[in-house]
Amino acid sequence: MSAGAPFDLSLLSRTARVDDTGRVSIGGCDLTALADDLGTPLYVYDEDELRARCREYRVSFPGGAAYAGKAFLCAAMVRLVAEEGLDLDVASGGELHVALAAGFPAERVHLHGNNKSTDELRRALTAGIGQVIVDSGDELDRIDALVAKESCDPPDVLVRINPGVDAHTHEYLATGVVDSKFGFPLLDDLAFDAVVRIADSATARFGGLHAHIGSQILRREGFAAALERLAALIVRIEREVGIEVDEVNIGGGLGVRYVASDEAPTIAQHAALVREDFGAAIERAGADSRPRLSTEPGRSIAAPAGVTLYRVGTVKTIPGLRTYVSVDGGMSDNARPALYGAQYEAFVPSRATAPRDALVTIAGKHCEQGDLLVRDAELPGDIVPGDVVCTPVTGAYGYAMASNYNKLPRPAVVFVRDGVARVVVRRETFDDLLRSDVF
Ligand SMILES: Cc1ncc(COP(=O)(O)O)c(C=O)c1O
Repeated sequence: MSAGAPFDLSLLSRTARVDDTGRVSIGGCDLTALADDLGTPLYVYDEDELRARCREYRVSFPGGAAYAGKAFLCAAMVRLVAEEGLDLDVASGGELHVALAAGFPAERVHLHGNNKSTDELRRALTAGIGQVIVDSGDELDRIDALVAKESCDPPDVLVRINPGVDAHTHEYLATGVVDSKFGFPLLDDLAFDAVVRIADSATARFGGLHAHIGSQILRREGFAAALERLAALIVRIEREVGIEVDEVNIGGGLGVRYVASDEAPTIAQHAALVREDFGAAIERAGADSRPRLSTEPGRSIAAPAGVTLYRVGTVKTIPGLRTYVSVDGGMSDNARPALYGAQYEAFVPSRATAPRDALVTIAGKHCEQGDLLVRDAELPGDIVPGDVVCTPVTGAYGYAMASNYNKLPRPAVVFVRDGVARVVVRRETFDDLLRSDVF
């Protein structure tokens, strides 16, 4: 896209529309009016987009798909996932609590985490959750003790394997390299020994293997390499332990298009590739097992469905250097740019088709120079305080990572559909900031 060209509307979700004057609506709701009515910063989710993406995963992965709640979780999202027929991956006692409190069927919940506490495991086991993805020998010790003490049923467990592959993503998002805190490494038989231990155990049932190699992955090679290594492990399990492997979960990780120049596979394309690579790996390895291939995406369901609305407070030009457009949120509602240099685009939803002839930096309001939401944003040159600015593709790991830094109340979250805006998480108040204080 050339400098000054209007915002690329294809970054918006499926119900986004722009009228003759350049005003943008999503789910039949005008974005500028939403900001006026509900305040800013505001997280807006296109409910049709969320549902369509869940459905695409369900159809593309007949072996099973669980939504990874860490990307964005609240009671309304839990219910949406339940209605769309996906399972739910939770990674802490808190996520488990939200899932169960919102009525998600326990038997469709999968528990993750590299350091699950005894309390988290107790809650999960006594609730009768569907799967525990075990990550360490200490965790297996805790499960042994809990099953003996609480007389709950032995859980179905998948063994999280660290396959030692490069996912071709940001270092902080790569979880499957050898030097990782997650999973059992293939090195020194650590992964194999964990499978043997579970296969011989009376307190856990071996359900299969799991590998999540990272996030925001746009290339096929990392998944293919992980599947190749899992296939070799499967053959060894068949030959030396004498059991077949029923399930292989390839984790989440599919990347999305954040900026106009990004290219990302669709969910269906990604599914076709990993299924092809898995089939080929199983054939080549000569395995007897025909495991079902499952997945647990977060970002590729939630990110493209969400946008964030901010209001501009100041416009400050440092001559010859840069113009800072400061908005009323920042790293407390979207930590990704400060955390790992994540890039976003921006547009003004009251005039999205206007030429964007100013190159500015959109800054947050926090007391950190690193609190820059978009370093090089193209915006209309007439941007002024009071304008609403929108950053698209913020639906994953945005609200989920929100904090109260500088004592900013967390924003509201609204689901829009068919012209109706439903607040699903209310905006925090100043009193909420004192909720946990002991006077
Ligand atoms: C174990 C596990 N599964 C699934 C996911 C979801 O990944 P993504 O949001 O990239 O799809 C993550 C993300 O960190 C994860 O750690």
